[in-house]
Amino acid sequence: MSVITVETSPIGGQKPGTSGLRKKTRQFMAHHYLENFVASIFAAIGGAAGKTFVVGGDGRYFNERAVQVILRMAAAEGAARVIVGRGGLLSTPAASNLIRRRGTDGGIILSASHNPGGEDEDFGIKFNMPNGGPAPEHVTAKMFEATKTISSYRILEAHDADLSTTGEARMGDMAVEIVDPVADYAALMEELFDFDAIRSLFAGGFTMRFDAMHAVTGPYATEILEGRLGAARGTVANGTPSQDFGGGHPDPNPIWAKPLMDEMMGPDAPDFGAASDGDGDRNMIVGKGIYVGPSDSLALLASRAAAIPQFRDGLVGVARSMPTSTAVDRVARAEGLGLYETPTGWKFFGNLLDDGRVRLCGEESAGTGADHVREKDGLWAVLAWLNVLAATGLSVADLMAEFWDRYGRVYYSRHDYEGVDAEAAGALVGDLRARLPSLPGTEAAGRTVEAADEFAYDDPVDGSRSEGQGLRVVLSGGGRIVLRLSGTGTEGATLRVYLEQAEDRVDLDPAEALAGVVDAAEALAGIRARTGRDGPDVVT
Ligand code: G1P
Ligand code: ZN
Repeated sequence: MSVITVETSPIGGQKPGTSGLRKKTRQFMAHHYLENFVASIFAAIGGAAGKTFVVGGDGRYFNERAVQVILRMAAAEGAARVIVGRGGLLSTPAASNLIRRRGTDGGIILSASHNPGGEDEDFGIKFNMPNGGPAPEHVTAKMFEATKTISSYRILEAHDADLSTTGEARMGDMAVEIVDPVADYAALMEELFDFDAIRSLFAGGFTMRFDAMHAVTGPYATEILEGRLGAARGTVANGTPSQDFGGGHPDPNPIWAKPLMDEMMGPDAPDFGAASDGDGDRNMIVGKGIYVGPSDSLALLASRAAAIPQFRDGLVGVARSMPTSTAVDRVARAEGLGLYETPTGWKFFGNLLDDGRVRLCGEESAGTGADHVREKDGLWAVLAWLNVLAATGLSVADLMAEFWDRYGRVYYSRHDYEGVDAEAAGALVGDLRARLPSLPGTEAAGRTVEAADEFAYDDPVDGSRSEGQGLRVVLSGGGRIVLRLSGTGTEGATLRVYLEQAEDRVDLDPAEALAGVVDAAEALAGIRARTGRDGPDVVT
């Protein structure tokens, strides 16, 4: 086995976005594309020599090939050991856990999260730090710089590693350790939650449906829910990971998880429903006849933290991304918890968690998680809910009713305009940005603008500043609008419009409660005219 040095040249556009580098699969499969980026990761972290990494992905098309390439490149760079999930599979939270538990130097996760998979769909790669969390901006910036100057990379000439069985082999001087992707993660969950209480719940006839959406969480959910907690066999649907997620869009929301929604709203609904995404870090929570939005789910878990053993020593503080609804703020204020508002993207929670300032975090985009790993964690959120359901004996609907009664209700929705002409989207945001200073005091569709600014974040732990993190407009009477462009799309631009309306009344139809804010957003930004669309492509 010999190390070969391959001449290459920079490939444009290898700039990591909200969550690593995400592109069309075919682009990743093109000559040198993956290799250039992997070499740039190693360059950005000061080389791979002597280091131990975790590698795994969500099993989408090209996952296994990419793992093999990374192994050979790590070996060529002198890495000591790479820990790989069997079959090249690791959910994102399970990878984060392994990185931490094994005291490694970080890990490479292959995933495009909730984006569809397949030769004509999406692929992605990101690096997580030794704390288990996504590389912060100063590290991803170094990667991008390295992609612009790369002239060669090194790779070991070697046969493919056998990823199909657990055990240890060598690739050159490097150890390749294949581990059960589920075992360590399941053990961690047992430490965090009251499995006995949840087991009793299921033993008492409680029913559940978990839609794994043909993605990576299938084996995790089957082992934990059906295997360890005694949920009925068949509780987990679509539990076998497939390279193209069964041809679907593995995004756990009412649109893409419609079969689950239909079942939960139907006459024979089980007591509890849940789903997770392509790489297992997102979640959807739904009760019999009631969908719980991610912002409300975060707030509910914060309010019931005492029921969750993980938070036995106190919740301390919570964090939410800026566009996430302010429901959790109400809990933080009432319970005297620390409260942090961060830019979109899980990487911004890392410092707050490491510093012990917060123990629970969430994003409106179906991300919920805590201080046990440094990624959002889909199955964790589901187990947290199960733990609350078991501890209180209440239904999902009762829990939400009690919550809204106590804290008031923040109606919330996100409107996505996908595949918009990038120039038009940029101009829409640019023009509104320019008008922000003059907006306060003016009217938009009958509502007075109280405040308007572009969000910038000063990290209280490392002092770094992140600018340009979304435009926000606060309206009189409890309304708020946020606009930003997605940093994870692979085609054109995706405009996200986040809408919220706080109300004392808890029984309004969400769409009606938000109608005024929707009109104000249109009046402020001229979305229809500028995007050329009649309405959003996806409403969550
Ligand atoms: C989206 C979500 C964001 C999440 C990210 C990765 O990013 O909005 O909350 O952290 O995916 O899952 P965006 O496309 O908006 O940049
Ligand atoms: Zn994901």
